[in-house]
Amino acid sequence: MNRAPQHNKACPRARHGPGTPAPRGPLRPALFASAALALLLVGCDVLQGGAATPRPLALGDADRGLRLLSQYQCGSCHAIPGVPAAQGGIGPPLGAFGLRSYIAGQLPNVPDTLARWIADPAAVIPGTAMPDMGASEADARDMAAYLLSLR
Ligand code: HEC
Repeated sequence: MNRAPQHNKACPRARHGPGTPAPRGPLRPALFASAALALLLVGCDVLQGGAATPRPLALGDADRGLRLLSQYQCGSCHAIPGVPAAQGGIGPPLGAFGLRSYIAGQLPNVPDTLARWIADPAAVIPGTAMPDMGASEADARDMAAYLLSLR
């Protein structure tokens, strides 16, 4: 099968007929390679969730987190300083949580891990008594930021 003419029609610049300047040495492959690399990088970005999931921030918004702790009614089980009516005694009190070394006695108390715990506790400690409160990742991150600000 002869595909060449079709190809030439679609890409007139690819024609190397008489009078058409020859491709300019190694420049073209280099251009092609950088374009391919750019595409690859963009592709990776999308694959890693660049568009779909927000990139993890170092720390969430503690002010927003304070409001969310009320909205999610974490205070029905936890005493949380600064959160009105958060006097629950079912879960451990969360005062001075920013000074704690561990979450639930097992996980290092760092922003990412705390946010993951709040968003889906059983995913990080199977069988835990802390329920999944249905918090989004972003909300969990903001609540984590508030809790870590308690000292
Ligand atoms: C139904 C009760 C209940 C609710 C509601 C609840 N928790 Fe918990 N939480 C618990 C229990 C029980 C534990 C202890 C779990 C364990 O040690 O495995 C816990 C543990 C925790 C811990 C670790 C405490 C420690 O001393 O290490 C944090 C932080 C926490 N919860 C945050 C939250 C946040 C934020 C919310 C709201 C989104 C929330 N909890 C809602 C019951 C609850």
